[in-house]
Amino acid sequence: MTTTKPSAAETAATIGANRDQLIQKHPWLVDQSLSKRDWMAMERQFYQATFKRSLVMERGQGVRVYDDNGREYLDLVAGIATNVLGHAHPNVVRAIQQQASQLIHVSNLYINERQVELAEALYDLSGGMRSFFSNSGAEANEGAIKLARKFGRVNRNGAYEIISMDRSFHGRTLATTSATGQQKYQDTWRPLADGFKQVPFNDLDALKAATTEKTAGVLIEAVQGEGGIYPASTEYMQGLRAWCDEHNLILICDEVQAGMGRTGKFFSWEHMGIIPDIVTMAKGLAGGVPIGAMLAAKRADIFEPGDHGTTFGGNPIACAAGLATLRTIVGEGLVEHAAEMGDYLHGRLEQLAQKHDIITGTRGLGLMRAFDLSEARAQDIMDRALERGLLITNAGLSTIRFVPPLIIQPSDLDEAIEKLDAAFSAL
Ligand SMILES: Cc1ncc(COP(=O)(O)O)c(C=O)c1O
Repeated sequence: MTTTKPSAAETAATIGANRDQLIQKHPWLVDQSLSKRDWMAMERQFYQATFKRSLVMERGQGVRVYDDNGREYLDLVAGIATNVLGHAHPNVVRAIQQQASQLIHVSNLYINERQVELAEALYDLSGGMRSFFSNSGAEANEGAIKLARKFGRVNRNGAYEIISMDRSFHGRTLATTSATGQQKYQDTWRPLADGFKQVPFNDLDALKAATTEKTAGVLIEAVQGEGGIYPASTEYMQGLRAWCDEHNLILICDEVQAGMGRTGKFFSWEHMGIIPDIVTMAKGLAGGVPIGAMLAAKRADIFEPGDHGTTFGGNPIACAAGLATLRTIVGEGLVEHAAEMGDYLHGRLEQLAQKHDIITGTRGLGLMRAFDLSEARAQDIMDRALERGLLITNAGLSTIRFVPPLIIQPSDLDEAIEKLDAAFSAL
C-alpha cells in the first residue's frame, strides 16, 4: 500500500487544528491575562481554601498598590514586612532582570556568584556569621533547629530540645509549628514534633526552670511580630545570653520579621546588646523575592557536607534581588530612616490613641508598631481602612499591626493616620 506524504500546508493545518482542540480543552495553555476574568470565582474553584481573600491585586509602585479595578491603596502591610523597598523598586527590578538573562537557576552542586556575594554582605552585617540560604522563614528556622540539634548531639550529650516562647511565631512546617507558642496554630496538628516546649516571654526564671539536660537551645524573636509586636527587654535578653553561655546552649534569634532594618537597627537584637549564635531571616531579605537565610556564628557553625541542603535555596535570582535590596537599605541609610519614621509613626499613633478611647496602648520599635483595641474589632478597623484606600494588618482579634516599607515618608504616614482616624470615627 502506498501512502502519500502530506504537504507542508496540510501538516500545518493539522497542527493548527490539533492546537485549537488542545486550547479548547486546556484554555490556560494560552495567556489570557489581557482579558478581565472573574478572579475571585476562579480562586474559589482552583485554589485551596487556606486564605480568606476578597481583593485582587494587580500592580504596585512604591508604597502604593492597585487592584484589578485600578483602585489605589496606601500599602502599610507591605507583604507583611516583606516589601521593605516598596513595590517595583528599580534597583530590585534591574537586578532580577539582569540575573534572569544571565542565569536563573543552577544546582547547589555548583557555586553561584550571587549566592556567595549575598553571604559576604550578611557576614559583614552580622559581624562574621556564615550563611545558608533557603526559600522561606519556616525553612530558615528548620535549618536553625537542625543545627542546634547537631550542636546538642556533639557538644551536650545528645541534647535536642528547643525552648521557645509563648506568643511566638516561627512558621507553618511541623517543626516550626511545634516551636510556635500559640495554640491556635498548633491544636489541629497534634501530635506535634517532639523536642519543643514553650515558656513565658521576658521571664528568665521560667526559662531557667525549663532548662534540662535535654535542652539544646533557645529560639526567640527579640521583637515578637505575629504575636502582637512585643519587644523583649534588654535585661531579659542579656540574662538569656548569659544563661546560654553558662550551660552551653545555642541561642537562636528569629529575625524573619524584625530583621533587615525594620526596628531601626539592622538586626533587632542589636537593641539589646547581645549577639546570638544563630540568626534566621526571610521576608524582606530579597525585597519580595522568596528567600530565607540561616546565619551561624563560629561557635555554632558545625554543619558538614551532607548535613543539610536545598534545591532552590540561594538561587541566583533570589540572591541577586537580596544583594540589590541590601545595597539599597545600607547604601541609602534606610535603617536610620526606619528609626526616624518609627518615631514619627509612634507619635502619630499616640495622638490617634488620645482621640479614640477604643485604642488602649501603643508599642513597638522602629517601623514595627502596634496598638491594642479594648474590643475584638481589629477586622472592623481593617475593613473600614480598606474602604478608605489604606491597607493595614492585625495580630489577633484586637491588635492592629504596622509593618510598612522602609522607604515610607512622613506624608504617607500622615495620610495613613488621616484614613485611620476616619475609620475609627466610622466604627
Ligand atoms: C518571626 C517569624 N518567623 C518565621 C515566619 C515564617 O516565615 P515564612 O512564612 O516565610 O515561612 C514568620 C512569618 O510570618 C515570622 O514572622
